[in-house]
Amino acid sequence: MKILGIESSCDETAAAISEDGRTILSSIVSTQIEEHKKYGGVVPEIASRRHCENILDVVKRALSEANCTMNDIDAIAVTYAPGLIGALLVGVSFAKGLAMSTGKPLIPVHHIAGHIAANYIAHPDLEPPYLCLVASGGHSHIVEVESYTKFRVIGRTRDDAAGEAFDKTARVLGLSYPGGVQIDRLSKEGDPLAYKLPHPKAAGSEFDFSFSGLKTAVINTVHNAEQKGEEINKADMAASFQKTVADILADTTIKAARSLGYKTIAAAGGVSANSEIRSRLEEGCKKIGAKLYLPPLSLCGDNGAMIACQGYYDYLSGKRADESLNAIATLSLDSI
Ligand code: KG4
Ligand code: ZN
Repeated sequence: MKILGIESSCDETAAAISEDGRTILSSIVSTQIEEHKKYGGVVPEIASRRHCENILDVVKRALSEANCTMNDIDAIAVTYAPGLIGALLVGVSFAKGLAMSTGKPLIPVHHIAGHIAANYIAHPDLEPPYLCLVASGGHSHIVEVESYTKFRVIGRTRDDAAGEAFDKTARVLGLSYPGGVQIDRLSKEGDPLAYKLPHPKAAGSEFDFSFSGLKTAVINTVHNAEQKGEEINKADMAASFQKTVADILADTTIKAARSLGYKTIAAAGGVSANSEIRSRLEEGCKKIGAKLYLPPLSLCGDNGAMIACQGYYDYLSGKRADESLNAIATLSLDSI
């Protein structure tokens, strides 16, 4: 069964074709990063306009790379939530039009479920149930993946998402957007123990976490140094910050796995590309005897393949949308 997956929730216009869920026949990602870099972050209106300009070409390229026409496609999956509303609306409207004109079923896909599904493409043996750390620009969750389509969020950030914390810290250090990958790179030249940063405790569930205090500590350290006319060592600060985020995310995930008895753990989302987080999860899983599944770097960020893959499982579970499908900016994974 072939599914066309369409993704436009943030600054990547993407389309891909999956075969029986786990095999990807083509995957096209048109990124807008260079344009948003000028503004230090994603400008929602620009993102929507670029999606509008690019989406037809991206979908046509995905079809042609897979040697398909719309006649070969069995269903159309599209990200409808969560994300930037104007950006989501472009993909949703396009997918609706395509589904109505071709008579193909339309499948609404939750973006975070898509990130989790990226692991199925790379790891044929991975099957629910398992525990997944999801860390992206807009979300940081610890999720019990009960089945391919049923999720329970057991821990979440109380304030900033991990990616947001990376991007804001990078900006304070004068690094360009998107900051996560820059911090990752610069950290390799720095001492992670050079700056002592707080591990803020979050009120709420024992598996919740918080990043805003950490971000504020970096900002204060940088500003204090500036006021004294001193220079901070950017590589040391990047490494210290990255180590603290990795401590928080990996320790909380391992604690949750231990407490709930999970022996299979996965990671997903743009921040799961981070080298320190990956190695801390590896260490933690080794310690508790759990098997770890990490998405390849090419599938950590936003892409259409993960939507085409999750679309397959959503299709099997009977999920369908009609012409009234709308985009939703905020929608918990628990409620789908
Ligand atoms: O999942 P994603 O592509 O988009 C959202 O759904 O938000 O995640 C983007 C986020 C950005 O904040 C970016 O800085 C972060 O992922 N990111 C990283 C790395 N690569 C991307 N953060 C830390 N280390 C990285 N290597
Ligand atoms: Zn994403």
